[in-house]
Amino acid sequence: CKRAVIDSRYKRDMNINKRFPCIDDLEAEAARRIPGFAHEYLIGGLGREMCVQRNLDDLAQMQLMPSFHGEISGPSIECEFLGKKYSAPFGVAPLGLAGLLWPGSETILAKAAKSHNIPYVLSTYATISMQASRALSDDMGWFQFYPPNDQDLEQDIIQRAIKAGYDTLMVTVDTPTATKRERDLRNGISVPLSFDHRTLGQIVSHPRWLLAMLKQGMPEFEVLKPYFPVSNDVTAAGMFITDKMQGRITVARLQRIRRLWPGKIMVKGILCEQDAKAYLKAGADGLVISNHGGRQFDAAPSAGAVLPRIRKEVGRAVPIIADGGIRSGLDIAKMLALGADFVLLGRPFIYACAALGDKGGEHIMNILKDELRSAVSQMSCSDLEGAQKE
Ligand code: FNR
Repeated sequence: CKRAVIDSRYKRDMNINKRFPCIDDLEAEAARRIPGFAHEYLIGGLGREMCVQRNLDDLAQMQLMPSFHGEISGPSIECEFLGKKYSAPFGVAPLGLAGLLWPGSETILAKAAKSHNIPYVLSTYATISMQASRALSDDMGWFQFYPPNDQDLEQDIIQRAIKAGYDTLMVTVDTPTATKRERDLRNGISVPLSFDHRTLGQIVSHPRWLLAMLKQGMPEFEVLKPYFPVSNDVTAAGMFITDKMQGRITVARLQRIRRLWPGKIMVKGILCEQDAKAYLKAGADGLVISNHGGRQFDAAPSAGAVLPRIRKEVGRAVPIIADGGIRSGLDIAKMLALGADFVLLGRPFIYACAALGDKGGEHIMNILKDELRSAVSQMSCSDLEGAQKE
């Protein structure tokens, strides 16, 4: 009987590997399973969406040199980053409203991150609470922070994150103003969320998403909800976000956050050397080179295009994460070769949850690890340090 269970599990795993050997397969299945308005919110950028495409194109066009003559051991893709050991140099990027994109995805991914020993970054706009997410991701949980423009509120969120046990704060600085995302405007996606007959039609024609949503319940902004004037009044919630969650994260504001946060601070959204140096001087421990998945400024360069310059300017010792357009283990190897120590992926993790439900997190993390191991081995490197020197 035990043998039969193992056999059927093996067959099921073989089936998943056969149907979804790479992230593109997960993406195609996700497009079928997620209702149109949520899918467009996930994949979209803004303007002509040149930046979303640029992220993909710049990585696709990059070449790496394979080499075969030497003996190597491994390869090992384990790494130490920000004082902790991880089983691979990638993590789950913060995604706001993830519970709308695929209901339950935050739970699936936080659990999978813990079991794979890689970081899970919870968004300020998460639809799961800080405590619940931290309990699932445990020491693999980081918290992404959009600092509000109200000092008491800022301090309170930081205190709650510390109390919940987070030690790494990712401060996002690349949203100084609201952006106009045309797909969302056409679909009526705004804060507060409201559905019209068209979106309701899309929901009922996507039964797996609907079932997952019925199981989870309507997503709410679990991190910010305590501050909404009247928690069940959606208009008041929308006004709160518009009023309080706006503004530039100047050096002075980062210095204040530095005084409040005892752990590591990574500043997310860096694309130029000047910002990199200014935030490091203000107390950041490291940088996340990112254009927010092409969702903030359509003319922005890709992380890959600016990484070598920023690495050269700040030196080898500064911890650097990069993201945007990474769709394979090979893309991870490319970002490392360009100067990153670590990377994040956003959209692909939601594709995996949509395509495979509870098994999605595990499967995509396995894909990425296998592909990265293979790339590092082709480059004749025993470990990631070798890959970074290529
Ligand atoms: C994001 N991103 C993001 N970043 C952040 O700091 N806080 C957030 O709440 C969000 N929310 C969010 C929602 C959605 C739907 C997307 C697609 C992206 C940006 C994200 O963390 C990351 O930088 C990009 O997603 C990386 O690009 P890829 O991997 O999606 O191409």
